[in-house]
Amino acid sequence: MEFFARSGNPAGQRTDCAIVGVYSNGDLPAATQAINQATHGLLDQLRKHGDLPTKAARCIWLPGVGDTVFRGLLLVGLGDKGKYDLSQYRKSLAAALRTLHGSGVRNAISYLGHHVEGSEEIYRWTRLGVETAVDANYEYRTTKSGKSTARRPAKIGFAISQGKHRRSADKGIRHGRCIAAGQSLARDLGNLPANVCTPSYLAKTARDMAKKHKKLQAEILGPAQIKKLGMGALLAVTQGAKEPVRVIVLKYRGAAADSKPIVLVGKGVTFDTGGVCLKPPPAMDEMKFDMCGAAGVIGTMRAVVELDLPINLIMVVPSCENMPGSNATRPGDVITSMSGKTIEILNTDAEGRLILCDALTYARRFKPDTILDVATLTGACVVALGGTFSGIMTRDDKLAAELLDAGRRACDRAWRLPLDEEYDRQLRSNFADFANSAGREGGASIAANFLGRFTEGLRWAHIDIAGTAWKTGKAKGATGRPVAMLVEYLLSRC
Ligand code: BES
Ligand code: MN
Ligand code: ZN
Repeated sequence: MEFFARSGNPAGQRTDCAIVGVYSNGDLPAATQAINQATHGLLDQLRKHGDLPTKAARCIWLPGVGDTVFRGLLLVGLGDKGKYDLSQYRKSLAAALRTLHGSGVRNAISYLGHHVEGSEEIYRWTRLGVETAVDANYEYRTTKSGKSTARRPAKIGFAISQGKHRRSADKGIRHGRCIAAGQSLARDLGNLPANVCTPSYLAKTARDMAKKHKKLQAEILGPAQIKKLGMGALLAVTQGAKEPVRVIVLKYRGAAADSKPIVLVGKGVTFDTGGVCLKPPPAMDEMKFDMCGAAGVIGTMRAVVELDLPINLIMVVPSCENMPGSNATRPGDVITSMSGKTIEILNTDAEGRLILCDALTYARRFKPDTILDVATLTGACVVALGGTFSGIMTRDDKLAAELLDAGRRACDRAWRLPLDEEYDRQLRSNFADFANSAGREGGASIAANFLGRFTEGLRWAHIDIAGTAWKTGKAKGATGRPVAMLVEYLLSRC
């Protein structure tokens, strides 16, 4: 898909389809008004008959109503005038672009962000416009036979009212493209079935990325090296599986060698059966998404590389399957993590924290400035926050504020959940330094406190994306979250 920015007379832009908005009270934004005039009051007429799309994100596609300049008109409801913000913009734009699927329209210009003023705002609306368009046009095809059925527009323009901020719009498009590329990669990896997307597959994805980019270097650790490092927690999770374990490291050098790196750690459980503590069958297929933390950080690496950001960034992905079997870990087994701390595995389904704790310990060698781990870690986080907010847990108030802010700016929001000794106490064990699980209540915070035992002295935050990384139901599929939040945070660190 191609994107471009346009300034100038809204009614004078040549396109197959002009996408224009209508407020819920029937008022027209300036760009829509201009097009109304160019069509000799077409929208006035529709309003007279009560035919304007006044409901938010409702679409009416009118092919062939334009003149020689724009051929068709797509009217979209913007909702209440006073409440039309970035979030509603994204919903309306996505609905409009989906309406065009299969319509035969090859290029379109959106006027839905035309009213926005100022360099920063124009940058943001254009950037999120691109991210939204790529998201709306995303289609998973890898393991389906045949070709895509619905043709999508190949060129999408974003109209702006202030020509003097053209460069901000262009920058927004460039950034949007890079971020969307990262999101699409994260979605592809998430959507792939576990028999394709294995730890080795994730490793190959990382290695192929490193081959293409000079500033990127890959290092893949296999079972022998992982044993040598003493990653007993990761090995305990993988021991029931035939599929070989990997620790995937990507290093991006965008700044001076002495500039401390930011480290991203992503949970890469390519399938989580629960192990001997087997999960119930309903929706178990969705546990192929248990590597979405890995997908999110791989996608973020891709975006950062394409943005060519002036930072040093390192990714560490511990990746394996969590399977039952005669060789699998039993509840009650005590293992020794890379840190030397012993862990009683009370529940083999609390495997994410086990693979992450060794990855966090491993990451210490990079002397990170900041370390963020991203994981589909707990069902409790899904219960607490649903699919809207990711959970953030950290001891560092400033880091929490920065991440929450980044999420807000990127429309990829998060909410802070507690990290507190009270949860920590519940992990006590009679047979090891502590256990890997405790009661159901407060599960997201208990898991975070478990990880907190391996991150003393580090500037660290844990991001639980169990509710946000994929959608269930008819729209089942990976979302590409939290790539946007992470990239926004990294942009703010430049
Ligand atoms: N991958 C799951 C978390 C999960 C569950 C994500 C449902 C999305 C939807 C994780 O490995 C897990 O099984 N967690 C357990 C922990 C419990 C056994 C302490 C959970 O949340 O139930
Ligand atoms: Mn599990
Ligand atoms: Zn899991």
